[in-house]
Amino acid sequence: MEDIISLSKRRGFVYPGSEIYGGMAGMYDYGPLGVELLNNLKAAWWKAHVYDRDDFYGLDSAIFKDPRVWEASGHTTGFSDPLAECKKCNTRIRVDKELERIGVKADEKMTEAELNELFDANRDKLPCPKCGNKDFGPVHAFNLLVKTNMGDFTGDATAEPVYLPGEACQGIYLNFKNVVDTTPARVPFGIAQIGKAFRNEISPRNFLFRTRELEQADTQYFVKPHENKEAYERVKQARWDWYVQMGIRPENLRFKQHDNLVFYASDAWDVEYNFPTYGFDELEGIHDRTDYDLTQHSKFSGTDLSYVDPQSGEKYIPWILETSVGMGRMFLAFLSDAYTVDEVNGEKRIYLKFPTALAPVKVAVSPLLKNKPELVDKAREVYTMLKKEFGAVMWDDNGNIGKRYRRQDEIGTPYCVVVDFDTLEGDTADTVTVRHRDTTEQQRVQISGLVNLIRG
Ligand code: GAP
Repeated sequence: MEDIISLSKRRGFVYPGSEIYGGMAGMYDYGPLGVELLNNLKAAWWKAHVYDRDDFYGLDSAIFKDPRVWEASGHTTGFSDPLAECKKCNTRIRVDKELERIGVKADEKMTEAELNELFDANRDKLPCPKCGNKDFGPVHAFNLLVKTNMGDFTGDATAEPVYLPGEACQGIYLNFKNVVDTTPARVPFGIAQIGKAFRNEISPRNFLFRTRELEQADTQYFVKPHENKEAYERVKQARWDWYVQMGIRPENLRFKQHDNLVFYASDAWDVEYNFPTYGFDELEGIHDRTDYDLTQHSKFSGTDLSYVDPQSGEKYIPWILETSVGMGRMFLAFLSDAYTVDEVNGEKRIYLKFPTALAPVKVAVSPLLKNKPELVDKAREVYTMLKKEFGAVMWDDNGNIGKRYRRQDEIGTPYCVVVDFDTLEGDTADTVTVRHRDTTEQQRVQISGLVNLIRG
């Protein structure tokens, strides 16, 4: 993981947030290559869940929501992590994670009493990570919602706060009726959204794995009451298949069922990914939420969110099957899976084995020599033509060809195109060398055939 974090910084994938001010815990900025990978992942996810489906509708809901949304959803009372504070140096730890670290089975869904009991039984094995003392206060449930003063012009600290979303999916529930009323959507159908969420995580950790600002790619599939079981299995399998189809190695994935369920779920499974160094951990949550969400919002808003079947006239609150994945975690999983080390001509080589659809740069174009204007002019022509077609094309004339290949390998560019003297005249006029990232093989290709070759 250290190698991946270092490459991310060095090559412009991910930078620590507010770095010039010393950094800010749990915050990261995506650099020029990172934003390309992130956008490619979002586009691939959106294609699979909206464009390739007849029964899905897209959404982009506002970040700020009526504060009652978070009461109805249960987040103001039930969305917490267990925290204990060191009495000596005030360092706060996340108790379930610390217990897990020493091999004691625990999670954030246990009650405060259960966690206090487990913590008390293991205090002697849990020194403060900062000062080493074993003198922690009791375990408290710490609410993770982030408060704002949006719309509060009184400066009154007791005024009801507007929260940032603790989970992005609430925007989907608020718009369930709007989507039914304004589209051909008929149960069973789904709504997909990629939206921001914010969590006051006690201990943001492991790079992009646990951050305080996150983006969640969510699908909510609305089904008839009690018609959830079979659909749930299909939804689960579809998410697994998507990861594999997008190039994640199946041996790095596994399903894990939750022992303790969050307040809204009747069944929950995680797709886990085998992160380097950390091992298997949650990548995506798949939750059977029954009628909890629409029932709660009907009750708290006073708006009936029942669905009326247009054929049978039957009226009911649909049940919901949810898939939810943090884009940062997805980014980290794909980056980790693509990270490959091999040997070429006796030298160690690092390359990112992204499928072309995900590669931040699709192709790099070089003149063999940068001080030969005739080569540079022709290479510029090829570069402009490819850039119009693919956008994410890089001009690379720095150093010798070998160094350029290594540099492109390290950012996952599947093809390098080189314009040389053979491109300019004779039988080989208007052909270029194409070098393939994974095999390092080179082939001679007509310039007119480049677009089709790269498109694959
Ligand atoms: N709407 C359901 C929900 O939010 P969750 O299990 O709390 O469920 C879903 O979160 C996904 O969001 C997780 O599987 C993970 O990918 C991502 N996620 C949650 N908290 C995160 C955090 N602090 N940092 C990064 N990703 C996070």
